[in-house]
This record gives sequence, C-alpha cells and structure tokens, in this order.
Amino acid sequence: KQRERQVLLDAYEFAARMYHFLLKNTEHGKQAMAYLKGRGFTDKLIDHFQIGYAPPQWDTLARQLDKREFSMPLMKQGGLLLSRDDGRYYDLFRDRIMFPIWDARGKVIAFGGRILGEGQPKYLNSSESSLFHKGRTLYNFHHVRPLLRKTRHLVLFEGYVDVIKAWDAGVSNGVASMGTSLTEENAFMMRKNADLITICYDGDDAGRNAAYKNMNLLEKAGCEVKVALIPDRMDPDEYIQAHGEERFLREIMNEAVPALKFKLIYLRRNHILIEETGRIKYIQEALKLLAVISSPMEREHYLKELAEEFNQSLDTLKQELNLIRQEQQ
Ligand code: CTP
Ligand code: MN
Ligand code: MN
Ligand code: MN
Ligand code: MN
Repeated sequence: KQRERQVLLDAYEFAARMYHFLLKNTEHGKQAMAYLKGRGFTDKLIDHFQIGYAPPQWDTLARQLDKREFSMPLMKQGGLLLSRDDGRYYDLFRDRIMFPIWDARGKVIAFGGRILGEGQPKYLNSSESSLFHKGRTLYNFHHVRPLLRKTRHLVLFEGYVDVIKAWDAGVSNGVASMGTSLTEENAFMMRKNADLITICYDGDDAGRNAAYKNMNLLEKAGCEVKVALIPDRMDPDEYIQAHGEERFLREIMNEAVPALKFKLIYLRRNHILIEETGRIKYIQEALKLLAVISSPMEREHYLKELAEEFNQSLDTLKQELNLIRQEQQ
C-alpha cells in the first residue's frame, strides 16, 4: 500500500514535469503557449504553477509511463490513465492546458485540465483516488501555508486561474477549493490555519450564491469572514485583465466587506425594494441579522445606515429591533 502510494506520487510528478516540458518545448505546445500568453500568463507564472500542456495524441502519457515500467492498472486506478475494452491504455487528458494540483506538502496528486478556448467540459479534473480527495484539497495551499503562521489570513477564490492571476497581482495567500462547494473538511482545515478568510468569488449569480453558502460554513467553523465583491459579473481574472492589478488590489481586495454587510447586500435580491411592502419586509429581515450583533456600537452603525436609506427614524428601528430580540430569546 505504502509502496503503491509512492509509485503513484512518482507517476504524477513525472506527468507534471512532462506536461510542463511539452508546453515549453514542442510544436504542439506552441498553440497552447499562445493561448496562455493571450490570457496574460507570463513565463514566471507558468513556471511557478508548473502549468503544462497535454497534446492531442491519445497515448502520450501512457507510452511514457509504460516505457518507465509503471504498472498500467495502477495508473488507471490512480486516475492518470483510462483503458479500452481491448485492454489498451490511453490518456485521460488530451489537448488541454494542465494545472497540477498539489497536496499540502507540495506533491502533485491530481490535475485540472482546461480546454483551449470554448468547449465542454471546460475543465476536466482528475477523479478521486487514494491520493486525491477533493473535499480535503485546496489548490495552492502548499505555497500559502508557510505564510499563514504569521498572517492567519486566507483568500478563497473560485478557480485556478483566479488564484494564479491574483498571486501575480500580489495576493500571495490565495487558494481555491475543487469546485464551488466547500466541504466541512475544507472549512476545518482553513480554520486550523487562518482566523480571517476573504471570499473572492465570481461576480455572477453562481459566485454570489456560493459565497453566501460557504460564508456560513466558514463562520460555523469559527472563522471571521469578509467578501470581496467584483462588479459586472466578472471573475477576478477578468477584472484584472480589464482594469489592471493595481485596481484589483485597491478597489476589490481592500474593499472587502464584513460578512454581515454581504448578508445585507445578499438579502436585497429577495425583496422588491421599489414597493412599500417589499421595503418593510426587507427592513424586518435586515433587523433580524442586526439583532445578533453583540457590539452595541456596531449595531448602531448598521441601524443608522438602514434608517437613512429607508427614511425611518432610528427610534422606530430600535423598537422593532427590541421586539425581534425578545422573539429570538
Ligand atoms: N470547474 C470544473 N468543471 C467545469 C467548470 C468549472 O471543475 N466544467 C471548476 C474549476 O475548478 C474552475 C472553477 O470551477 O476553475 C470555476 O469555474 P468557472 O468560473 O467557470 O471557470 P474559471 O475559473 O473562470 O475558468 P476560466 O477562466 O479558465 O474560464
Ligand atoms: Mn513553487
Ligand atoms: Mn464561475
Ligand atoms: Mn470564473
Ligand atoms: Mn475565469
């Protein structure tokens, strides 16, 4: 078992090196390189994140692994290869940009493979194996971990590309979970290593919904959460491409709002604020959120904001709040 594990780790390590080499040194790699350059990936980024390219042939990796006497059934079991009915082995990843995924110690345990341009599926990810458990994996965590001892601050992105581009912009503590649904294991691991989590998901509906869901999970695990909001349905990578790194840091990362503020923003979507009844319902729901704030000063701050926006007297809102607090007890 222990030996099989080591063989698989060696195979993933070999595959990552091979894909990285093929991207940088082959004719086929050139179009992949052109795609990456077109998306703003520099050589520095490609090297630091060991980005690679799987060529279109069906057995590039299979042949190399076979030549090096890796056991083909084990490679299949480990999620690197597939097999046909006639027993021939072939590559899972073909004609894709390859993002190695590491465990917390920096060993390659899986890949995310992106199609060049449009097409389905956009990302093909390694299936779970004895090495790779999606719910326990955070992309880029091995780079970030040494920094956390001091800062205790993590930034959570949706995609590999977002982590990479934000890193280039100076966000050295960015990670991503495998897909948008964070697991309790992820949350626990994050809590163990950080006190503050800034969620910086895509600005579309899917991203906002996932941010709301995962924020609650992280708060339950005991983290303080902030949310960095990206306008115009863009994701971090798109925002950086459109507005530059400096503006991303200044207007997105530095402007991350406290969890409660995000909950209030999120709450708005469910209420029709141009109607009187919708406004009243919104105010009541908002007060329910404010009722759990323990600091009187903080509570007052949000109450004032609410009073001003909806033209209510602070006294009326305080009375409402007291009623809600009595109900909640
Ligand atoms: N994802 C996936 N399979 C898909 C689509 C998405 O596993 N078919 C995961 C990937 O980890 C991806 C993340 O969900 O990075 C976020 O998805 P999305 O926002 O659609 O992709 P981007 O990260 O923006 O990818 P790109 O910029 O390359 O289009
Ligand atoms: Mn490195
Ligand atoms: Mn998305
Ligand atoms: Mn995205
Ligand atoms: Mn993107």
